[in-house]
Amino acid sequence: MIQEVIVTTQNAEGKTHIAPMGIHVQEDEIIILPFRPSTTLTNILALKSAVINYCDDVRIFAGCLTGKRDWPLSPAHKIEGHYLSAALAHKELELIKIADDKTRPKLFFKAIHSVNHAPFQGFNRAQYSVLEAAILVSRLHMLPPEKIATEIEYLRIGLDKTAGTKEREAWDWLMASIDHQQLKQPQV
Ligand SMILES: Cc1cc2nc3c(=O)[nH]c(=O)nc-3n(C[C@H](O)[C@H](O)[C@H](O)COP(=O)(O)O)c2cc1C
Repeated sequence: MIQEVIVTTQNAEGKTHIAPMGIHVQEDEIIILPFRPSTTLTNILALKSAVINYCDDVRIFAGCLTGKRDWPLSPAHKIEGHYLSAALAHKELELIKIADDKTRPKLFFKAIHSVNHAPFQGFNRAQYSVLEAAILVSRLHMLPPEKIATEIEYLRIGLDKTAGTKEREAWDWLMASIDHQQLKQPQV
C-alpha cells in the first residue's frame, strides 16, 4: 500500500527539510523512494533517519510544491530531527537498507517511535482533489496541457462540493502555480 505523507529530514547542519512522498508500507517495512536529485535523499543518507508525518492539512502538501515550506515543527523524541506540529500522527524512522538506483533508490526503514497526536477526521473529497492536483503540479513539465486541464476539471467537482477554507487555500496555490508555469512554457 502507498500512503501519501510528509517526510521531514534534517541535514548535517540541523536544518529541517519537508517534502510530500508516497511511501510504500507493508507490515513493519517502510520504504521511501525519492527521485534523484533530492534533498530528502541527501539528508537521509547523511543522518540515516527520517520522520513520516500523517497529516490532513493539505496546505502542507500544496505548499511544498508551491514554495511554501515554512510550517511549524516540533522536536522528534528519539532521533535527530523534527515532526510537523500539524501531524495527526508521526513515526520516527531509522534507515536499515538501501537498494540503490540511478533514478529512484529504495530506502528501507524501521519505525523506532510512533506517536498519535489527534484523531482521524474522516475522508474528504476536497483533500483528495488537492493531493491529486499537487501530484499534477509536480509533473507539470512531463504532461500535455490538455491532460492537466481535463484532470483539474474533474478534481474541481469534489473540491467545490466539500472543501473547507484550508482545502480552498491549498487549491488556489496550486492553480496559481499551474497558470504561472504554463505561461512560462513556450506554446507549440
Ligand atoms: C502526494 C505527493 C507524493 C509524492 N511522492 C514522491 C515520491 O514518492 N518521491 C519523490 O521523489 N517525489 C515525490 N513527490 C514530489 C516531491 O514532493 C517533490 O518533488 C519534492 O520537491 C521532492 O524533492 P526534495 O526532496 O528535493 O524536496 C510527491 C509529491 C506529492 C504531492
